[in-house]
Amino acid sequence: MSAPREQWTSKLAFVLAAAGSAVGLGNIWRFSYVVGTNGGAAFVFMYLVIIAVIGYPMMVTEVTLGQKAHKDPIGTFKALAPDTPWWLVGAMGVMAGFIILSFYSVVGGWSLAYVFKTFTGALGAGTDFGGEFVGLIGSAGQPIFWHALFMLLTIGIIAAGVVNGISRSVRILMPALFVLLLILVIRSVTLPGAGAGIAFYLRPDFSELNAQSLLAAVGQAFFTLSLGMGAMITYGSYLNDKEDIPDNAGWVVGLDTFIALLAGFAIFPAVFALGQDPGAGAGLAFITLPAVFAEIPAGLLFGGLFFLLLSVAALTSAISLLEVVVAWIIDEHEWVRWKAALVLGGIIFLLGIPASLSLGAADITVIGMPFFDFLDFLQESILLPLGGLLTSIFAGYVWKAKRTRDAANANAKKLKLGWWFDVLIMYVVPVAIALVMMFGLVDQYP
Ligand code: PHE
Ligand code: NA
Repeated sequence: MSAPREQWTSKLAFVLAAAGSAVGLGNIWRFSYVVGTNGGAAFVFMYLVIIAVIGYPMMVTEVTLGQKAHKDPIGTFKALAPDTPWWLVGAMGVMAGFIILSFYSVVGGWSLAYVFKTFTGALGAGTDFGGEFVGLIGSAGQPIFWHALFMLLTIGIIAAGVVNGISRSVRILMPALFVLLLILVIRSVTLPGAGAGIAFYLRPDFSELNAQSLLAAVGQAFFTLSLGMGAMITYGSYLNDKEDIPDNAGWVVGLDTFIALLAGFAIFPAVFALGQDPGAGAGLAFITLPAVFAEIPAGLLFGGLFFLLLSVAALTSAISLLEVVVAWIIDEHEWVRWKAALVLGGIIFLLGIPASLSLGAADITVIGMPFFDFLDFLQESILLPLGGLLTSIFAGYVWKAKRTRDAANANAKKLKLGWWFDVLIMYVVPVAIALVMMFGLVDQYP
């Protein structure tokens, strides 16, 4: 028999670990460039609506399903609906974990490289920041070295175990993240010319929105909250049966949204103050911010701290991605933890190599996109929204909305979910995702 399943040691341990999963590159690197390429404030507004109407009920649902089954995503669907094909939703989640982590750890690697480059002064005043970024991601050896280091750190934490590895590191890392981001926001909004950036970020022009940007907003909402692929099912599976789920879920969604909005305030005012292009794409945070830091006193220190913050946030998200696939192989195939972490982490590292090379060093494309972009497209436009759609149908119609709500409410003290939860999970969430996916994909591929 295998060892008894571990549990979070306290309510705080769960909230910190789940918030650690949520808050990551998605809030800073991805949120800022997706807002920038989708027109700014109108996108932010829609994103916030989606977080409230789809994100929060899905967070409650995933944590509840995981807590009821105490299993990995595949085992959760098998336990709650035995002898049905619903476990395939869990399998899709495990696959999404593989895919997301393979490119996520490449970006985590860039962030580590920037910690090094900034603290050593290589990214100081006078640097060609655009050239520096393109040079890094377009070369062969350097980004793969940092990608390897990032994956090694992730594997190490996962090999050490759920409670000891995850919750302890997050407990120290989250408050540091807050403080550093606040320092950055204050610097950014006080730069001369920052007002135009604040307007871009807060004054909506709804003519900027189309079906494709709505799909991008849904995909970003799932990505940033670690939803639609079983990460929150897995973390919920380590939650004991006495926890207040509506309250916990509210904290995680609230913290993640707060950090993303804060990151926008750190980035956009500075982008405009320096006359840069908010639609620069995936390089936005990596190209614009070092240029900002170079313009302010002690810029190398601010810059180094920022990329350290980004790396740390990325690491606490990466461990939740690896935990999904590791929990699957431990629960379903009874591997020991360290072996599962090493072997699966190794495979993910290998998949990340062509992703990294496709950005300049080698010509690796799928349906006309660099392999890196294809993986990101796959998770944002298909895997996560589809995973969320199917999970909401499962919770609403198969396991039944009332039962999901009662299970979530079992220990609720402050906020009890009402009938509105059933309406959201049965009608609003699945219909909205289906429509946005349909029109968004048609829009992309006419
Ligand atoms: N939520 C993480 C972020 O914003 C990324 C992530 C996605 C983590 C899916 C786990 C699962 O960076
Ligand atoms: Na996030």
